[in-house]
Amino acid sequence: MKGKILVTGGTGYIGSHTVVELIEQGYEVVIVDNLSNSEREVVDRIEKITGVKPKFYEFDLKDQLKVDQLFATETGINGIIHFAASKAVGESVQMPLVYYRNNLVSLVNLLEAMQKYNVPNIVFSSSCTVYGQPDKLPVDESAPIKPAESPYGYTKQVCENILRDSIRAFAGSVHGIALRYFNPIGAHPSGLIGELPRGVPNNLMPYITQTGYGIREQLSVFGDDYNTPDGSCIRDYIHVVDLAKAHIVAINRMISGKNKADFEMFNIGTGNGYSVFDIIKSFERTSGKKLNYKVVGRRAGDIEQIWADTTIANNELGWKAQLTIDDMTRSAWQWELNCREKMQK
Ligand code: UFG
Repeated sequence: MKGKILVTGGTGYIGSHTVVELIEQGYEVVIVDNLSNSEREVVDRIEKITGVKPKFYEFDLKDQLKVDQLFATETGINGIIHFAASKAVGESVQMPLVYYRNNLVSLVNLLEAMQKYNVPNIVFSSSCTVYGQPDKLPVDESAPIKPAESPYGYTKQVCENILRDSIRAFAGSVHGIALRYFNPIGAHPSGLIGELPRGVPNNLMPYITQTGYGIREQLSVFGDDYNTPDGSCIRDYIHVVDLAKAHIVAINRMISGKNKADFEMFNIGTGNGYSVFDIIKSFERTSGKKLNYKVVGRRAGDIEQIWADTTIANNELGWKAQLTIDDMTRSAWQWELNCREKMQK
């Protein structure tokens, strides 16, 4: 066994894919999740893929006593990968206090427990949203942090600061890496885990696959009058399996003492920008379906274009995204088909 890793939010979309990679790399995994946006069954699906059932605790990380009890019980944790957080941009505008409480208090509780129980390493789920609309593209890690567009985005900025300040105060006993994700899409090649948004999806990819399946009537493309080659917004879409692998590399880096500072941050994207129409075309290619869509007005708060400079992640972590945009849309479609088939049984 390589070591013991606590994965918060481990039954969620990115968390579950990361748990699979950790187990496949020989780590012992303990999951904590409050199941607010995921299903307990994901634990069984992880077992189906890997042959190993991770230990699972269902509770909310805002509960300081329960967090403390977890660390008292699960001794010898070598690192934490902290996914558990609320992540819907629009919802955060409606319910900012829910977002501040969920995302900030959970991290504070974890860091206090890390100090008390001598847990040395943490990987934090950050986001390219911390850059806002960058002045220079592709955006690298030294780009200025712009005022956040949403309370959700603000929690990512504040969490990075909470980590930086705490790690400095802990003076070498805790190391951290913040991974700034670009736009994760796609699903595991087994078809057993993927993104399953509750209700109407906010994000592009699940909206496309649900429209392809006939659950939604039509995709709305939010604006074709941006200053981009085809007029639609550009993002750096990354396959969730590539993203999951970046977490294993980050945790390995700290466990093996290869990190160059107590707190580091890396862009996790492919380095390529694709437009909304590019994604639609890729989906049509890989699914063989014609997508019903119409262009509507811009969505409030959308940035026009962003993609990553991944040089530092590639050179320092020795990690590079491998999968193509067609791999992403193909696996997302396969996952949609599998989910719906299962629901009909
Ligand atoms: N889009 C549509 N129609 C839809 C949904 C999305 O045209 O029905 C467009 C958006 O306007 C945007 C692109 O598809 O141009 C991607 O939108 P998503 O909602 O999938 O992703 P965002 O880039 O808005 O947000 C994502 C994550 C956030 C994260 C952010 C960082 O959802 O958590 O990336 O940029 F903070």
